[in-house]
Amino acid sequence: MKFLIASALTIIFHLAQAALDAKALTSQHFGNDAPWYLSRIPLFESSDKTLEEVYYYRWSIFRAHQRDLGSNGFISTEFLNDVGWQTEPWASLNDATGFHLQEGRWCRDRRFKEDYATFIYSGDSNTRQFSESMAAAVWQGYLVDGVLEDAVARIDAMQAVYNAWVDSYDADKGLYWVEPLRDATEYTISSIDASGGIDGFTGGDSFRPSINSFQYANAKAISNLAALKGGMDDTVVSFNSKAASIKNNTQTSLWNTTLIHFIDRFKVNNTYVRYFTPIRGRELVGYVPWTHDLPDDTISYAQAWSHILDNSELAGEHGLRTNEPSYEYYMRQYRYEGSNPECQWNGPVWPFQTTQLLTGLANFLDHYAVGASTGLITKTDYNKLLRQYAQLHYNPDRGGILDIEEDYYPDTGAPIVGLKRSPHYFHSGFIDLILSGFVGIRACADDVLEVNPLADASTTYFRADSILYHGHDIAVQWDATGARYGTQGLQVEVDGVVATSSPELTRLSVPIARVAAPAVARPVAKSVQLGLSTTYPVGNVSVTDPAPVLADIHSAIDGRVFFFPEADVANGWDTPVGNGSEVWFQIDFGASTTVASAELAFFADGGQGFDTPASYRVQGDVDGVWGDVEEAKYGEVVGNGITNVEWKGVSVEKIRLVFKPKVGSKVRLVEFKVF
Ligand SMILES: *[C@@H]1O[C@H](CO)[C@@H](O)[C@H](O)[C@H]1NC(C)=O
Ligand SMILES: *[C@@H]1O[C@H](CO)[C@@H](O)[C@H](O)[C@H]1NC(C)=O
Ligand SMILES: *[C@@H]1O[C@H](CO)[C@@H](O)[C@H](O)[C@H]1NC(C)=O
Ligand SMILES: *[C@@H]1O[C@H](CO)[C@@H](O)[C@H](O)[C@H]1NC(C)=O
Ligand SMILES: *[C@@H]1O[C@H](CO)[C@@H](O)[C@H](O)[C@H]1NC(C)=O
Repeated sequence: MKFLIASALTIIFHLAQAALDAKALTSQHFGNDAPWYLSRIPLFESSDKTLEEVYYYRWSIFRAHQRDLGSNGFISTEFLNDVGWQTEPWASLNDATGFHLQEGRWCRDRRFKEDYATFIYSGDSNTRQFSESMAAAVWQGYLVDGVLEDAVARIDAMQAVYNAWVDSYDADKGLYWVEPLRDATEYTISSIDASGGIDGFTGGDSFRPSINSFQYANAKAISNLAALKGGMDDTVVSFNSKAASIKNNTQTSLWNTTLIHFIDRFKVNNTYVRYFTPIRGRELVGYVPWTHDLPDDTISYAQAWSHILDNSELAGEHGLRTNEPSYEYYMRQYRYEGSNPECQWNGPVWPFQTTQLLTGLANFLDHYAVGASTGLITKTDYNKLLRQYAQLHYNPDRGGILDIEEDYYPDTGAPIVGLKRSPHYFHSGFIDLILSGFVGIRACADDVLEVNPLADASTTYFRADSILYHGHDIAVQWDATGARYGTQGLQVEVDGVVATSSPELTRLSVPIARVAAPAVARPVAKSVQLGLSTTYPVGNVSVTDPAPVLADIHSAIDGRVFFFPEADVANGWDTPVGNGSEVWFQIDFGASTTVASAELAFFADGGQGFDTPASYRVQGDVDGVWGDVEEAKYGEVVGNGITNVEWKGVSVEKIRLVFKPKVGSKVRLVEFKVF
C-alpha cells in the first residue's frame, strides 16, 4: 500500500514537473493569437533553441496558410498572396499538398487536414496541375490519427486521380515521365539540356525519380487503404502490383551505376537530347525514392548518400544544392521578374526538396538495415542537416527575422527570389521532420507506438507533448542527465503515464489500443467571399475618402487570417487615421441570413501606425432598419489575434462592424468572419 501510494505520487509529481506549459509557450510564440494554437498544436522544447523557435514559427506558417473556404471548409495555400497560376477561386495549388498534409497530420484538430483532403479529391480542385503524392500523404495522416473512416472516404477519387496519370506513363518502359515545370521544379538538368542550354523553364520531359516515387507511394497507399476498408481485394492486388512494377523499373532504369545515384532519363527526343539517355549529372531529386521507401535495402543504393556529404557535390555551405557545381549551367540565372531572379532548380537550395531529403534520410536511418549499419551517413549528419535547414528560416535580407521563402544561395544562405509573393512560403515541411525524425515518432498502422529519436548526443534534452496519436495523448522526453526533467533518459508517456523508458536515445515501442479520436467541430463562416467579385456576400465600407480599393475590402472577407508585419503580405482593409469618429465595414449577404457570432481580426503594429479600435459594436440590418445586435457579448479587443463577439441570433440581410479608430492611429481589419 505504502509503495503504491508512493509510486502514484511519484508519477503525479513527475508529470506536474515535466509537462510543458501550453499557455506559456503559445503565448511566448504567438502573442495574442495564442488561443488559436493552445489546444491545436503539440508542444516541443529542446536544448537546441533554434529548432524550438523554428518549430513554433512553422506552426504560424501552418495557421497563416489555412484558408477558410466557408462551406467548403479549410485548405492550405502555398503563397500568402494570390499568384497567377493558382486554381481559382480557392487559391489552391496541388504541388504543395503533400507537405501541407504531412505537417497537418500533427495538428490536434483534424479538421484542417480532413477538410483539405475532401477538397483535393473533389471536383473543385485541380488534381493534375502538378505531379503529386496526395494519396500517400492522406495515408501518412491516417498513421497518426488512426481514423479509418476518414482515410478510406476518398478511395474512389484516389484511384481516379492515380489512373489519370496514365497520360504520363510510358508503357514500354513501365515508368512515368513529367515536364520539370509540372514537377514544380523548373530549370533542372533535363529541361535546360533539352533546350540546348538556352532556357529550361518549360520542356525537358523526362522519367524522373520524383514522379515515379510519388506514384509508387500513391499506389501503396491506395492498396493499403483498400485492404483496411475490406471487400476490395482486386484493388489491393492491382495497386500493389503497380507499386512493385514502378519500384522495379525505377531501380532498373533510373539508377545510374556510374554516378551512383537515381537520375532522370529523357522522354523528350530532339536535336539536343535523345529518348531514354540519362541526364548528365546528379540532382537532389535522386533521394526522393527514399522519401517514399522505394529503394531496396542494399549497399549499392545506400552509396548514394555520400553525395550530400561532399562539398564538391550536393553539400552547399548553407544548404543542399539541387544539382552539382560540375554541371555546365549550375546556378546560371535564366529567368527574372523585372530585375529579380525567379525560381530555378539548377543548384539553389530548396526547402521543398530539403524536406523530402530529410524525410528520406530519416527513413534510411530508421528502417534500412544498411542505413543503421554501414556508417555511410549517420544521425550526426542528420542533426547537422536539420540544423542547417532550421537556420535557413532566418532571412538575412530582412534583418534575420523568421521568414522562409522559395529558394536560397547555397554559398550564403540568402534567399534568391525575394518577391512580394515570397514571405512565409509554404511549400516544405518542418514540424513533421521534428516529430517523426528528431523526436522519432514512427507513426504506423498497427496498434503500436514506436519511437526512435534521431536526436543525438548534441541534444541534452527535448520534450514533445500534447501529441494525439491513435486517439491517445502522448509525450516523448529525453534528458541526458536528469537535470532538466528530474529523470535521466528517454521516456514515452501515454495518457500521462510513463509507458516505457531507456537510459539511452534508442528505439522504444509500446502496444497502444486505438481509441476514438476527438470529434471534429466544423462551424461554417457565412461571410467568406473567395473571389474578387460582386456576387454575395460582398463587402463595403463607410469611408469614401480616400476611395476604397475593392481588393482591400475583399481582403477582409477572403477567409485568410494572418498578422505578419511585412508590407509585402499586408492582409486586410485599412481605415484612415482616426479622428474620433466611427467608421463601418459592412457585409451584404444578399439574402436574409441568420447570424449569431463573429471573429474579428485586427492587425496592430505601432511602428506602422496601426492599432486596435477604441470601441466597436455589431449592427444588423433587419428589414432595412439598422440596429445594434441584441444581448451582445463583446470580447476584449486584441491586436494580432481574434476578438470574439456573440449575440442573440438574428436574421439580417446586411451586417456591420461599427468601430472607432483611436485618434492618430489607423485600424487594419484583417478579417470580419461571421457565423
Ligand atoms: C524489372 O524491370 C526491368 C526493366 O524495366 C524489366 O526488364 C523486368 O522484366 C522487370 N522485372 C519484373 C519482375 O517486373
Ligand atoms: C529520336 O530522334 C532521332 C532523330 O530524329 C530518331 O532517329 C530516333 O528514331 C528517335 N527516337 C525515338 C525513340 O523516337
Ligand atoms: C550514367 O549517366 C552518365 C551521365 O549521363 C552516363 O555517361 C553514363 O553512361 C551512365 N551510366 C550508365 C551505366 O548508364
Ligand atoms: C457602399 O457604401 C457607400 C457609403 O460608404 C455607399 O455610397 C455605396 O452606395 C455603397 N455601395 C454598395 C454597393 O452598397
Ligand atoms: C473623420 O474621419 C471620418 C472617417 O474617416 C471622415 O469621414 C471624416 O470626414 C473625418 N472628419 C474630419 C473633420 O476630418
